[in-house]
Amino acid sequence: MNNISQLISLLGGTGLVAKNLNIKPSTVSNWRKLNKIPKKKIHNILSLCSGLKINTEDFLPSKDLNNENGKILLIICGGIASYKSLEVIRLIKKTNIDLDVVMTKSAQKFITPLLVTSLNEKKCYIDLFSVEDEIKMNHIMLARKPDIILVAPATANIMAKLANGIADDLASTILLASFSQIILAPSMNPVMWNNLATQENYQKLIGRGVEFIEPDVGDMACGENGAGRFPEPKMIFENVISNIIDRKNTANQFKDVSIIITAGPTIENIDPVRFVSNKSSGKQGFAIASEFSRRGAQVTLITGPVNIPVPKCTNIIHVISAQEMFEKTMSQLPADILICSAAVADWKMIPERSSKEKINHENKIKKNNQKLVFKTINNPDILSTIAKSNLRPGIVVGFSAETNDVIRNAKSKLISKEIDLIVANDVSDDKVFGKDFNKVFLLDENNCEEWSKQSKKSIAFNLANKIYKIFTTNNI
Ligand code: C5P
Repeated sequence: MNNISQLISLLGGTGLVAKNLNIKPSTVSNWRKLNKIPKKKIHNILSLCSGLKINTEDFLPSKDLNNENGKILLIICGGIASYKSLEVIRLIKKTNIDLDVVMTKSAQKFITPLLVTSLNEKKCYIDLFSVEDEIKMNHIMLARKPDIILVAPATANIMAKLANGIADDLASTILLASFSQIILAPSMNPVMWNNLATQENYQKLIGRGVEFIEPDVGDMACGENGAGRFPEPKMIFENVISNIIDRKNTANQFKDVSIIITAGPTIENIDPVRFVSNKSSGKQGFAIASEFSRRGAQVTLITGPVNIPVPKCTNIIHVISAQEMFEKTMSQLPADILICSAAVADWKMIPERSSKEKINHENKIKKNNQKLVFKTINNPDILSTIAKSNLRPGIVVGFSAETNDVIRNAKSKLISKEIDLIVANDVSDDKVFGKDFNKVFLLDENNCEEWSKQSKKSIAFNLANKIYKIFTTNNI
């Protein structure tokens, strides 16, 4: 067994590890001296190792990983890499994790259910219509039991079925009937992986919160070369374990903490049929609401009109206009935390005739020869008003969508609105609105962090971590 100091050197040294984990270099030096990494940091180290393809077996005592318990359902699909999932089973079996395995029909052409049953010392499920299984462990129970459903290898076929809601066998039915975190480890021919259909399904699934262990690039069993190779089973195992640890460590972090989140666009009516609005989809705000709910918070989500499914949270309030969003948000105070991710319309639009002829605002405005002009009235700034009020929550977070001078503009908003954190992004090229990925900067009074491009779900996860740090440091 090598020591922790060697592992930290492989990860780029004390300074880099400290920077990557957002901790003090002296903490990492202590790990080196004591030859031990605290349990709650092991999953961070595992993520760094898997990124650099470092085999942790030589460094971390296996009991650190193997003490984990939880419930995993492994779905094995049919591909040349099916046999590699046996190694994933072997690694999971060394832990206290409760593992069930489902195989698709095609997987059974590569490996047998008997082999899987012997390895897992448990029945392997293969049939949606088994009378015996439906009595003892039906497909809904299989879908609801696990913390994580790992699909490895995941074929283009299962991705397409899940993305399109097809449930024509046990594996695809379970995936549709589950609330668990789904992790896919795709493996397929590079042309299949890069096919637009597969890539569209991939994007769609990420948007719905499915996680991926990206396929490796290299020589394939079919003789071609490219992206699509099944990742190392050890890597898959560590990814799943670190996911379970992450979920467990964060599950009750915000228990009984009240959080108000604004999301989506607002709409300013011009007349009963026309309106002015903006391009916000609500995806980021909904992802944040969902993440804080998972962490035990009492979340009130106040949302403008959107076309996406609502997340599970304590209370959802639907609003139309900025004025309504302002009033409803005020009515929910006091709260511990406020996160304003909504793209609130800055102005009410009041239509007027250039001739000053009166307009009846109850009726649809008719076209005539006179010019229509708009008078604007400023809407209340929800974020700023609450941040400066005596009902100010302990932590106030805003968003800043900019087309130029992103950091400078966000910084000046942070100061003028008197808030604690601001998430800034560049929306100049239409790559953000309605999309599932974003690249953001996180600014507080003293720092500006640049986050790599990631899914909105992952931004929600990292933002919740950041807020938790402030929450615990400030003892709010
Ligand atoms: O000033 P600007 O609209 O760019 O600021 C963006 C931030 O302020 C976002 O967090 C948004 O939710 C919030 N905001 C608000 N009420 C408004 C306008 C913006 O809460 N009327």
